[in-house]
This record gives sequence, C-alpha cells and structure tokens, in this order.
Amino acid sequence: MLRARAAVQHLQEYHPPLARRDGLRLDFNENTEGCSPRVLARLPKITADDLARYPERAPVEKIVAEHLGLAPEHVLLTNGVDEAIHLLCEAYLEPQDEVLIVTPTFSMFEIYSAATGAHVTRVQCDSNFQFPIAKLLSRVTPATKLIAIASPNNPTGTVATRDQLLQIASAAPSAAVLVDEAYFDFHGNTVLFDVKAIPNLFVGRTFSKAYGLAGLRIGILAGPREQMPMVRRVSSPYSVNSVALAVLPVALADSDYLSCYVAQVKTGRGCLQQELFRLGIHAWPSHANFLLLRIGDRHREFVTAMRQRGILVRDRSSDPGCDGCVRITVGTAEQTDRLIGALREVALGLKLGSKVTA
Ligand SMILES: Cc1ncc(COP(=O)(O)O)c(C=O)c1O
Repeated sequence: MLRARAAVQHLQEYHPPLARRDGLRLDFNENTEGCSPRVLARLPKITADDLARYPERAPVEKIVAEHLGLAPEHVLLTNGVDEAIHLLCEAYLEPQDEVLIVTPTFSMFEIYSAATGAHVTRVQCDSNFQFPIAKLLSRVTPATKLIAIASPNNPTGTVATRDQLLQIASAAPSAAVLVDEAYFDFHGNTVLFDVKAIPNLFVGRTFSKAYGLAGLRIGILAGPREQMPMVRRVSSPYSVNSVALAVLPVALADSDYLSCYVAQVKTGRGCLQQELFRLGIHAWPSHANFLLLRIGDRHREFVTAMRQRGILVRDRSSDPGCDGCVRITVGTAEQTDRLIGALREVALGLKLGSKVTA
C-alpha cells in the first residue's frame, strides 16, 4: 500500500479560512486597496506568446537585486515567502534535526519544517510578546539547523532587533537563520544587507502585503553568496510565473504608490491604537499592517458582529499565548474610519473594553 512519509502522515492539512470573504477584508494582512494602477496597466500587454513560454526568472532577479542594493548572486525570486521557507527546509533539514521557532508566529515555519521529519521546538513569548532572545539562545544546540523568525512577527506585530538577530546567527553557526521580513515595508528596519557578511543568514521578503500582489505569488529569498546555489538546487526554475515576472519591475518602479499606501497604513495604525486605548481594549504595539487585540471570552461573537457589519477580522485565539485575541489588518484612511465606527458599535453592544460607554 502506498504510504506518505511518516512526517507527512503526522501533519494536519492547513486550511486558511478563505471562503466567504465578501466585505472589507481585514483578515489576512493583505493590501486592502489593490496594487499600483501601473501594474494593472501592464497586464493587458502580456501576449499569448509570453504565456506560451516558460518563465525566465534571471533577468527580473537582476532588476530586483539592483533595486534592493544586492548582487544578483544573493537573490532568488520565489513563489511567495512560503516557497522561500519551503526551500530552506528542503536544503538544510534532515529528519531528526532541530528547528527553533518563536511562538506565536506564522504557521508555515512549523508546517514545512515538520514535513521534513525535523523536530520543531517552540520558544514561547511572554505575555507582552517581546522577542524572547535569552530563551531562544538557551535552546540552541548542535542539532539546531534552522531558526525561523518573523520580524515584524505575525500575529503579534512585534519585532526582534538587528542586534538580537545577528546574535542568534552567530550563536548558531550550523543553522540557517531565516528572518522573514514580509512586513518590512511597514517597519523599515532590516537585516537584508547583513546577508553579504553573515554566512548563515537568510532574509525573506514578499510582494503579497504592501505591494498588493498576494494573488500573483512573488517573494524574495536573499542569502549568503556561498549558500544560495544550494537553495537554487532544490528550487523549480519555473516557480515564479510569467505574469508575476512581467509586472514585478513595474511594481518596483512605482515607489509613489508604495509610499502613499504605507503612509496611510501607518497613520491608520496609530488612529486605531488610540481608539482601542480610549475604549479600554488592549492591543500590542505593532510594526506591521495589523494589530492584535485582546478581546477576551467574547472573541467569536466579536468576529461575527464585525462580519455582520461587513468587516472581516481574524480570530487568533487558538494561537499559542493568544487566548481571546483577534487580529485586524489596517488599510486605507477611509477603511480605518469605517473600522473604527464598527468597533465602537460592537464594543458597546458586547460590553467589551474597560472604558466603553454609550
Ligand atoms: C510572516 C509571514 N511570512 C510570510 C507570509 C506569506 O507570504 P507570501 O504570500 O509571500 O507567501 C505571511 C502571510 O501572512 C506572513 O505573515
């Protein structure tokens, strides 16, 4: 009888709640406005001949590398950061190796790691979700082969500092250290340029968030010059499709679009934080395009009541350490106004927050 590998048999299928997403989508940390109009204008110029050919990644990789300020040898375009994580697991993990992740965090770190048969150790944050550097360092062993850290982290929005990340890379020289910077555009701090000097540091970036291209599946894996050929060996040469490759240079060139969207999100994030403070609903300080709120026992009713008002938010209460928590994406100024209006009503209706008054 055909049997999947034991590690795969132990995995659960991951089903993000993608069905019935009509309304204001504040549930997946996507761009809520849509991509640059220049990207849309490029699409009709894609020809049947373009689609008939296998996609050629290398010329666009060069453009992306130049945009980032890195040599092309450091840069691999991927089918989203998801594929970047997958490739690192394929390239560096043997069954029984150890992987360290800081929880709560992005689910794919654990899924791709566990699929190789490696053992995943979760290092849990304290209740303030500050990066648990000392705890993480104390868990590094000679068997540690991958340490995956999202900064800013999803779902908390909290960050690790560059010093902390470099300390980890130096404490675990036999491990690939992945810093997933999917939310970089909303934060601004990076360890990207450290891949030139640190022999085990990798950085993931995505076009799914600030750039509004989640549906096209494009990301970046940057890493040390000596290691990238190893990662390329396990990558499909065609994993980034031709439509994504055609629009990516256009998306990168429209820096006005990006800065305008990011500015709106940052302002909205501040307004939302203030409003939550006023209502007495706790939210952790976030460096990303979302906030994590502690709603408490009525988190399910909260999500339903927001949906009834046409706003989708994400229940994260089953994430480790996130009892009663809901994550809300921040979008444009207008969407944030609408969100705040609905929040006030729902907080009042459900008697949430310590300061809610009619
Ligand atoms: C931390 C983090 N990394 C990666 C991703 C996925 O990125 P991509 O769409 O590029 O695969 C997400 C999406 O939610 C995320 O939160």
